[in-house]
Amino acid sequence: MAAYLVMMTPRLLEIYRVLKTSGSLYLHCDPISSHYLKIILDRIFGVRHFRNEITWSYKGGGRSNKHFARKHDTIFFYTKSDTWTFNYQDIMVDRTNQTYFTDENGDRYWLKYGKRYYLKHEGKVPEDWWADIDPLHGPYNERLGYPTQKPMALLDRIIRASSSEGDIVLDPFCGCGTTLVAAEQLGRKWIGIDISTDAIEITEKRLGEAFPGIKLETR
Ligand SMILES: C[S@@+](CC[C@H](N)C(=O)[O-])C[C@H]1O[C@@H](n2cnc3c(N)ncnc32)[C@H](O)[C@@H]1O
Repeated sequence: MAAYLVMMTPRLLEIYRVLKTSGSLYLHCDPISSHYLKIILDRIFGVRHFRNEITWSYKGGGRSNKHFARKHDTIFFYTKSDTWTFNYQDIMVDRTNQTYFTDENGDRYWLKYGKRYYLKHEGKVPEDWWADIDPLHGPYNERLGYPTQKPMALLDRIIRASSSEGDIVLDPFCGCGTTLVAAEQLGRKWIGIDISTDAIEITEKRLGEAFPGIKLETR
């Protein structure tokens, strides 16, 4: 763990340095490292720029009968300053378990103690726990066999929320390139970094297949 934190700290400092003042950081980790990383992130970004600890929970895969099944990851969300992009209208999810009524003008409302509360939007901003995104266990179409591959839906939500078309998305640990594919699909510019040549080869192939004719600059 100490070696991991020593590796991560200078990288997080550099990420902070290159991040736009209005930019955001999302750091995905597991519960073994999350509390240590949060201390480092609080120090670099400032506690007041901590926005969310998102719990991505899921089912599937193996489980032990010696403790509760470990079925969540943590995603920290920090901003660099007090002004940041958050496109809540682009990430709305369905309201569930809610009974709506429609008034004479066709506007929808729900009732609480006999009082009408009108819906401002058709959905709701997701909570900071995400249980609606499946991990890539089993025969999912998007599965490439890269061990740490994340679902597109996860990156899609993050990129939609915290960037706009034309913005730059950086994934400095890009693995098989899920962030880059999601960013390209959403009309963002992007940069991916990975220490593994396998990761870069898989990413190049994946981007080439998903976006024929795409021009990649690899260094
Ligand atoms: C958790 S995976 C990323 C998964 C990726 N987000 C995806 O969906 O495919 C972490 C990646 O970080 C890379 N990595 C590890 N140490 C690194 C370093 N010092 N610099 C750059 N990449 C590194 C690994 O090769 C691995 O591909």
